[in-house]
Amino acid sequence: MYYRFCGASGLQLPLISLGMWHNFGDNDLYSVMKEIVWTAFDNGVTHFDLANNYGPLPGSAETNFGRMLSNGLKSHRDEIIVSSKAGHLMWDGPYGDGGSRKYLMASINQSLKRTGLEYFDIFYSHRYCPETPLEETVQALIDIVKQGKALYIGLSKYPVDKAEEACRMMKEQHVRCLIYQDRYSMLSRKPEESHLDFLEKERLGFIAFSPLAQGLLTNRYLNGIPQDSRAVKSGVFLHREDITPQLIQKISRLNNIAAERGQSLAQMALSWLLAKELVTSVIAGASSASQLKDSLKATDNLYFTPEELAKIDSIIIED
Ligand SMILES: NC(=O)c1ccc[n+]([C@@H]2O[C@H](COP(=O)([O-])OP(=O)(O)OC[C@H]3O[C@@H](n4cnc5c(N)ncnc54)[C@H](OP(=O)(O)O)[C@@H]3O)[C@@H](O)[C@H]2O)c1
Repeated sequence: MYYRFCGASGLQLPLISLGMWHNFGDNDLYSVMKEIVWTAFDNGVTHFDLANNYGPLPGSAETNFGRMLSNGLKSHRDEIIVSSKAGHLMWDGPYGDGGSRKYLMASINQSLKRTGLEYFDIFYSHRYCPETPLEETVQALIDIVKQGKALYIGLSKYPVDKAEEACRMMKEQHVRCLIYQDRYSMLSRKPEESHLDFLEKERLGFIAFSPLAQGLLTNRYLNGIPQDSRAVKSGVFLHREDITPQLIQKISRLNNIAAERGQSLAQMALSWLLAKELVTSVIAGASSASQLKDSLKATDNLYFTPEELAKIDSIIIED
């Protein structure tokens, strides 16, 4: 595994991090998730990305990660980076969602309890909350660091102007924002229009989530929709009806380019992101250790010819 410095900080992250949004909840087999996490760590994946609401049930991914820590991973605590987040709906009533100090403080305490950790390495505001004054959210994040409950602060899914403002407020109190997290893949290019200049200027780390477009940028759906795929098993964020013949045709053409490069489509999708130096790491999901092993080989070939890049763009852009 290769590691990159997270923006201007001294913290290095592995090029490929492991995400626990899906496949680590109460409906998943503990033996499978344990194998995924052990495979990750054995291959140098030192960064595990959680959030308070990951499951289902919300909170169960943190509880399961806590179980894995108790089952041996904790002896490697100083060799791993564990992230968590708060910002989306977690519990009923007015204090279980958004960006208030009340919610962030209660949520990190709950997340620490579920995982059995004394601190998170990175704690994120999971989304910008327009109903909460930005100062309140930022001050809560700064205080979380000052209380020793997290070492670094991250922001996720913030409009660029709000991210800039939040970073400025943090700097005024001598706490730098470490990292920005957003959706970025060959199929989701929004950060290119909005955030990349800001990240470069602020020298923040950038970590891309759903780099495989939840499985679309893999061989998963090339020959129909498998019963054990996310589109069938979960179907909440990836809908079967969105997997159209036109989309599959595009994906097959991308798959052909990947094959010419000697890569699986999943590997090419990750390499394409990691070829950009601004991308510190990608947070890949996996429903099996074998998927993760396949994805990890992405780092073997991060070079794209200008022709390959142009061909990829032309496939994605065309109607
Ligand atoms: N900040 C935020 O708001 C936010 C939002 C979303 C995600 N995230 C983070 O980003 C992480 C990753 O998101 P994601 O799970 O959507 O990621 P993803 O990497 O885009 O998709 C993962 C899915 O792709 C399939 N897959 C993975 N590797 C494969 C391979 N080598 N070959 C074939 N199929 C493969 C699996 O689908 P099947 O399950 O169908 O097998 C897997 O569940 C999350 O776990 C979370 O930590 C953050």
